[in-house]
Amino acid sequence: MLLAGVRRLLQQQQQQQVAAVARVVASSSVRHQSSAPEKIEVFIDDQPVMVEPGTTVLQAAAQAGVEIPRFCYHERLSVAGNCRMCLVEVEKSVKPVAACAMPVMKGWRIKTDSDMTRKAREGVMEFLLINHPLDCPICDQGGECDLQDQSMAFGSDRSRFLDNKRAVEDKNIGPLVKTIMTRCIHCTRCVRFASEVAGVEDLGTTGRGSDMQIGTYVEKMLMSELSGNVIDLCPVGALTSKPYAFTARPWEIRRTDSIDVMDAVGSNIVVNHRTGEVLRILPKTHEEINEEWLSDKSRFACDGLKRQRLVQPMVKGAGGELQPCQWEDALLVAAKALKTANGSVAAVVGGLADAEALVALKDLLNHLGAEDTCTEEILADAGSGTDLRSSYLLNTTIAGVEEADLVLFVGTNPRFEAPLFNARVRKAWLHNELDAAMIGPKVDLTYDCEHLGEDASVVGQLLDGSHPFAQRLAAAKRPMIVVGTTLSSRPDASVLVAQLMQLAQKLRSGCEGGSEWRVLNVLQRVASQVAALDLGYTPGVTSIRNNPPKVLFLLGADEGAITREDLPKDTLVIYQGHHGDRGASMADVVLPGAAYTEKPATYVNMEGRSQQAFPAITPPGQARQDWKIIRALSEVVGVPLPYDTLEEVRSRLGQVAPNLTRYDHVEEANYFTQAMTLAKQVGGQKTSGAIDVPQKHLTDFYMTDTISRASPTMAKCIAAVKKEASNKYVDQ
Ligand code: SF4
Ligand code: SF4
Ligand code: FES
Repeated sequence: MLLAGVRRLLQQQQQQQVAAVARVVASSSVRHQSSAPEKIEVFIDDQPVMVEPGTTVLQAAAQAGVEIPRFCYHERLSVAGNCRMCLVEVEKSVKPVAACAMPVMKGWRIKTDSDMTRKAREGVMEFLLINHPLDCPICDQGGECDLQDQSMAFGSDRSRFLDNKRAVEDKNIGPLVKTIMTRCIHCTRCVRFASEVAGVEDLGTTGRGSDMQIGTYVEKMLMSELSGNVIDLCPVGALTSKPYAFTARPWEIRRTDSIDVMDAVGSNIVVNHRTGEVLRILPKTHEEINEEWLSDKSRFACDGLKRQRLVQPMVKGAGGELQPCQWEDALLVAAKALKTANGSVAAVVGGLADAEALVALKDLLNHLGAEDTCTEEILADAGSGTDLRSSYLLNTTIAGVEEADLVLFVGTNPRFEAPLFNARVRKAWLHNELDAAMIGPKVDLTYDCEHLGEDASVVGQLLDGSHPFAQRLAAAKRPMIVVGTTLSSRPDASVLVAQLMQLAQKLRSGCEGGSEWRVLNVLQRVASQVAALDLGYTPGVTSIRNNPPKVLFLLGADEGAITREDLPKDTLVIYQGHHGDRGASMADVVLPGAAYTEKPATYVNMEGRSQQAFPAITPPGQARQDWKIIRALSEVVGVPLPYDTLEEVRSRLGQVAPNLTRYDHVEEANYFTQAMTLAKQVGGQKTSGAIDVPQKHLTDFYMTDTISRASPTMAKCIAAVKKEASNKYVDQ
């Protein structure tokens, strides 16, 4: 009880500190917006540079191309000014100044390489190393450690301190982040990240002077879906990756830039690999998508890439068991079934399929006279189906959230469906005074969110203006409505989405950006969905249930949208994918495909941005790239697809949907008015009944696809969160 009380008190204090920081940041951003201030001239090492008033010495130096060493400063976090590594000499100042916290004044002459600066840095290094262990040979940060690099560059080769070194007990903060707190230099980057970006008040400082420690106050897990980012932020080896501990040194591994597929955000990543094995995944900066963050599932689920893999083709034997076989045999069985089906063929694609495989599969079915190509993920039809892209995209874009002043979530939990989109919302809430509201279950978001109720009838009330929140919506200058896709499983989904479209159109006419501002957004959950809809796939498997085919082709469809029980006994199921999950277990023929780290592939994210993934390693065993398997199968069936190389497939992609090959370009949707006209024609029942979301708790976040379900680290996370929840119960 006492501990819980202390924790609450400390959390309250920290919340107050964060609010104070937010106010300072907000007021400074208002200052920036209100006028275009005249630039001032300063001199960095005698080099003149023009900067805006309020620029810090460190930023001014960066503009002049001079990098000042730092530990605590980070451009995406508030300024702490506590490490003093950035001390520089300012002419006529008797003392060196902290460059990260000092705004420049007109005419200042700053010396970043003077005797005073060098001496100041050397002194800071000496103090930092008093208590730092001589751990480099056994430290996971070795080779990519700021302290190591900067002590080489700015430190002295001897110390004047002979006292015993201070030791700090390590903390257990969960299965993802390993702590060796003796190495901590108290920069507080991790604390600031947790409270400012991740929106959890779990980390903080206790004690003063040499008793100061970074920790969680009482031993507990760092309960955040973004916790892994503190590993990148920590400038020393105090916080390192637990699953990656003692695995490799940076100079042993290769890096391949690629795209994440664990959600529909399309985060940019770096895949680190060695001898055909993915060792770790790190974020790559993309300002308009993930900034420099990555969700824990995207970062840590990579150990699922080498478990439960399909490495050989398989065909069901007489006993009903899948038997390994040669590629020729599997392709012959599949081709024979496809040929004799007389066009009674359908396909279902899962959330990890790439655009190349999607277009090849659709072409194959069309060549066989079949049209029924579906996605597992559903989408409500509000009159226009998927003909108008505006009905399935995050039209405002991910970075566009920062311009909004009000966001209304309907039937989605952005925190677990798209953690980095949610981090943007939090950023806008903290810095730009964005307000948030939600219709659906009360979930724990990382910002204040007004709960308007669970019932779908609230949407109708907002539309006719009878709900008290309708006035707030109408008064918003740049409102956003963000709709979840799981809402589409409701029987009244079409009416509900049509109502939301009308509401969006109504708000659009009154908002600041006029017709340029897009109000309605759909938050997709899976990486393949936008490309599949762009290529003409139908969302949901209703047509297959109503009209079961003789041959069903599952391309990585593992979420159980369609099961064996939904199909006649004589339907032959072909499964192509990379993991032995639900899809493979119901298949008659299994064709092993490549995972996202093993193939060149195109993915389109939730805002409609096409991006390329690159192969880091080769597929295991006899697994092959997906479009190549489909191309080979088409040859055996006798309807060869007209492409043999990746370039040719991409040119076909460009023919069907040109936006798919315009990489890193957001192809905006238009025709909002037409979509609304069609939505008005959707009639039907009154909407009512509670709106639900599938991912309410942190435990629902970790395992959502075949890769994360095969990941031991994700399993450990779920176990740890459950244990934490039960401890909490005991604690209180
Ligand atoms: Fe060496 Fe850096 Fe590890 Fe400290 S944190 S032991 S300096 S590698
Ligand atoms: Fe800084 Fe790392 Fe210590 Fe956190 S644990 S305060 S990031 S050194
Ligand atoms: Fe300036 Fe730490 S970087 S005080």
